[in-house]
Amino acid sequence: MNKHILVIPGDGIGQEVTTWGKKVLELIAKKYNHTFSFDSALMGHVAIEATGNPLPDETLAKAKATDAILFGAIGHIKYDNDPSAKVRPEQGLLKIRKELGLYANLRPIKLFDELLGASSIKPEILKGADILFFRELTGDVYFGEKKRSEDRKTASDLMVYSKYEVERIAHKAYKAAQTRGKKLCSVDKANVLESSRLWRETVQEIAILYPDVQTEHMFIDNAAMQLIKDPKKFDVVLTANLFGDILTDEASQIAGSMGMLASASVGDSVGFYEPIHGSAHDIAGRGIANPLASILSVALLLDISFGLKTEANAVIAAVEKTLKQGFRCKDIADKTTSENMICSTDKMGEIVLGNIL
Ligand code: IPM
Ligand code: MG
Repeated sequence: MNKHILVIPGDGIGQEVTTWGKKVLELIAKKYNHTFSFDSALMGHVAIEATGNPLPDETLAKAKATDAILFGAIGHIKYDNDPSAKVRPEQGLLKIRKELGLYANLRPIKLFDELLGASSIKPEILKGADILFFRELTGDVYFGEKKRSEDRKTASDLMVYSKYEVERIAHKAYKAAQTRGKKLCSVDKANVLESSRLWRETVQEIAILYPDVQTEHMFIDNAAMQLIKDPKKFDVVLTANLFGDILTDEASQIAGSMGMLASASVGDSVGFYEPIHGSAHDIAGRGIANPLASILSVALLLDISFGLKTEANAVIAAVEKTLKQGFRCKDIADKTTSENMICSTDKMGEIVLGNIL
């Protein structure tokens, strides 16, 4: 197979972890006789520094012309405490999602048994949990009209959804549920929000088309609680942009660490793959970031964008084997991990590469 991949490392630890995602792709190409060509581009704080624009035109043009995108992370501490900043790294990510029509963000919460002890949740509650989130990614308060009054003392972000936006992601989520546990939980706040009532009404209509899938509707506050109380009862979770952003960070604790979670954003054209963790400037440049989320994002890329299931499974198996051998990055180490099994980013990357069959 002949494919082109655009690598956008972004900010902070994005640089360090994406190096390993790319190396995994190179090794897979070699072992399985594919030709993968690469290009790279700037986005986020690094792009602002270089061009003044968090999503330079050149990056967008390259993104539109490639077969798949591997992204790292975005953000810089400098903007976090400066609410008045006009240009922000995150604008780059939001714009590329919109421009590429990446309306469905898939966030699998896969718990490797070896990491049962790394979570702050009790192992018996966690064991067997396997959830696939479908987070809507191009609507909601993220993209609704933003206003600030003239005296600057009142502000609003419009929470807006159109029916077709709910329909298209709901179909994707239901189709996925059919191949998994045949359960779908749609999360909203329909007891309060009009946009959620449209969401629920639309999901109810679509549910009829998938009679083999059992549908449940849950309010976001309840879902946030149930997720930690009994994660095993969830299969596919379908939700809006903001609720999905929050719930998936919470759900990362089910997988032991944010450093383990990969994601795929898909929609109208090219697929975009990224860890769900952020730029983590507190640990950037220290060589301790966990590259497994980037490596697992590569598995999603191979599977979803290229249809290479065997190759994707080889990547996941290599991660599994590495964890079985006892190797841990700092974020997934627990009390039982001995000092010599705690790996740097590069050591973890090397070991996973060595374990790819
Ligand atoms: C995510 C991130 C982004 C989001 C930020 C960086 C804009 O938190 O991908 O979950 O809120 O969508
Ligand atoms: Mg987030």
